Amino acid sequence: MATNPFRYGALALDDAFTDRKAELDELLADIRNGQDIVVFAPRRYGKSSLVWRAAQRLRKTGVLVAQVNLMTTPTKEKLAEKLAETIHDDIASRLFRAKERLRVFAGLRITPVVTVDPETGALGFSFAGSRHVQDVDATLERLLELPGLLAAERGRKVALVLDEFQEVVDIDRHLPKLMRSVFERQPEVAHVYLGSKRHMLERIFSDENEPFWRSAKQMELGVIAPPLFRGFIESQFAKTGRTVEPYTVERVLDTTHGHPYATQELCYFLWEETPEGGTVGAEQYETALTKLLRSEHAHFGLVWDKAARAQRLLLQALALEPGRPLASDYRRRHGLPGPSSVQRALGALLQDELVSRDSGGEYRITEPFLAEWLERGEL
Ligand SMILES: Nc1ncnc2c1ncn2[C@@H]1O[C@H](COP(=O)(O)OP(=O)(O)OP(=O)(O)O)[C@@H](O)[C@H]1O
Ligand SMILES: [Mg+2]
Repeated sequence: MATNPFRYGALALDDAFTDRKAELDELLADIRNGQDIVVFAPRRYGKSSLVWRAAQRLRKTGVLVAQVNLMTTPTKEKLAEKLAETIHDDIASRLFRAKERLRVFAGLRITPVVTVDPETGALGFSFAGSRHVQDVDATLERLLELPGLLAAERGRKVALVLDEFQEVVDIDRHLPKLMRSVFERQPEVAHVYLGSKRHMLERIFSDENEPFWRSAKQMELGVIAPPLFRGFIESQFAKTGRTVEPYTVERVLDTTHGHPYATQELCYFLWEETPEGGTVGAEQYETALTKLLRSEHAHFGLVWDKAARAQRLLLQALALEPGRPLASDYRRRHGLPGPSSVQRALGALLQDELVSRDSGGEYRITEPFLAEWLERGEL
């Protein structure tokens, strides 16, 4: 029995990953050059998957890649723990014999408590219980220096990937400054920052009063171009003994516009409606979309509950007609309030990345199925 070849939610790995060739090549070259880079895109566009793919390639050629997701490190101590873990697993383990690995942590101001997971043998590090801020800072500083130092000692290239980097300001107000002061002394280390909230990144990297101001090359990820996605969808069906009508693939892409997560999600539901050896077409498409919207109902309901009145009106209008909501004829057509209210609502929706602006200056709802859900009025 073939299993569903489409995946959404987790990282797109191996066979679930498609395209991004230009971005991947650029990222690989930048990392090899030790160039710092910030990758940003709306939620669920495939930032983590892309960098994961790059890391996989780089490791095969001897480049060391350490990674931490700042979403999992709400405090400096937690950040220190995750850093120690990746330094141990992804750097020391590749450079030193088992007995020598822990020695890399010898000079730390706070000595970590090291634990072993009896099931997997994986090591855990804890810096909890230290009383002085200075000690935590000194420990963190040293950990941030280690990837560069260890790599240089062995003549290796190294990258440090910080996913969900926008969280850095919430961990500690002074953390950006501390980090930046270490990183600017490591020109040979490639720092890769991933962020989902564009405005946060704009604040961190494009505000001249911030420590990270213009410190990294910017790379914005877009959707996956529909013609490229088409081949992927067809081959995923074919590979599992099923056929998808060309017209149905067009409908999928007309709905998702190549949004990576949304496309995989819709294809997942579509595949579930296709019998082994069968062909999927218009009829199953409707069923698949209905089931998908049902599964997203709770999520969209929360979005709706949180939106203020003017935002709701604007969301409904954009679901029916992507465009320029500030124009007077657009406002009239959709019964929207005055320009300043619409401006404010639009600003808030952009900030939350519920709405995005395309290169032509038109606004649309970022998540394709939210638009569909609103259009169907299933509030
Ligand atoms: N290159 C790709 N090929 C096919 N599908 C992809 C690709 N990249 C991402 N996806 C789809 O998008 C989903 C989200 O990917 P990923 O978690 O990498 O995005 P992200 O931008 O890091 O999201 P978040 O903002 O939530 O961290 C994946 O589960 C997968 O379904
Ligand atoms: Mg991610």
